[in-house]
Amino acid sequence: MIQARTVAEARAWVHGVRRTGARLGFVPTMGALHVAHQELVDCCRSGVDAVVMSVFVNPTQFGPGEDYDRYPRDPQRDAALAAAAGVDLLFLPHSDEMYPHGSTAFVDVGPLGAMLEGAARPGHFRGVATVVTKLVHVLAPDVAVFGQKDAQQVAVVRRLVRDLLLSTEVRCMPTVRERDGLALSSRNVYLSPDQRRAAPILYRALERVRAALQAGERRAAELEALVSQTVGQEPLARMEYVAVVGADGWEPLERAEGKTLVVVAARFGEVRLLDNLCVRVHADGVEPGVP
Ligand code: PAF
Repeated sequence: MIQARTVAEARAWVHGVRRTGARLGFVPTMGALHVAHQELVDCCRSGVDAVVMSVFVNPTQFGPGEDYDRYPRDPQRDAALAAAAGVDLLFLPHSDEMYPHGSTAFVDVGPLGAMLEGAARPGHFRGVATVVTKLVHVLAPDVAVFGQKDAQQVAVVRRLVRDLLLSTEVRCMPTVRERDGLALSSRNVYLSPDQRRAAPILYRALERVRAALQAGERRAAELEALVSQTVGQEPLARMEYVAVVGADGWEPLERAEGKTLVVVAARFGEVRLLDNLCVRVHADGVEPGVP
């Protein structure tokens, strides 16, 4: 595995690979790699000849008072895991590389970036959209892979790829879970033992929604209430939002119909966790879906 720390080094490597006609896959990360990142690499590999992973804790997607300074950073461990996952190029830029002195240009995807997670974390998706655009611009991948756990991020990236006429295919990999259902996240390390025991309530709430859908419930308000009630039974959890939206346009739904997402965010102490359920709802049943 090759490591690049500057945009020029990454571009030179990409240029060399492209000259051979190889197709390139890209897995953007903020490091603190775990099993789900390994699965992102596996998902990326199909149909490409080489995989680039970036490890960059992007300052512009953190709000004031958020965990930018204490976000887990361990580049040596990340490099070992990336190599074991079969990554070909690991791009570890410094923030001066990604945001040259005096940077003022940003990418804003509009209302999609301001709702739900974007409302809870103003500016977050502007930071995500900006850094993903820069990374895609530098690395020019044929395929980029994102995890379903951050479903709104997937929608934001799809939107910027569409609107900015980028030619990268965006793949969404289903959420990887612990045995008790907790979605894997680099922020799970912040949970105290009690909070860790409480956190799978989000998954259980979403499974209750799945069961209600299978039993014929379609009213979004009822499905949202089911999540609120279930999460409300856990004293260590504080609900932030729950919403039933169309999985493609993220429009709020009154009734679950077609490709539907149920998204939830809650706090466990200071730790914010996200989860979601994606299903295809038909007149005669409910099937699993991927955003
Ligand atoms: O999901 C993440 O880890 C980050 O938001 C991303 C996509 C790497 C952009 O910084």
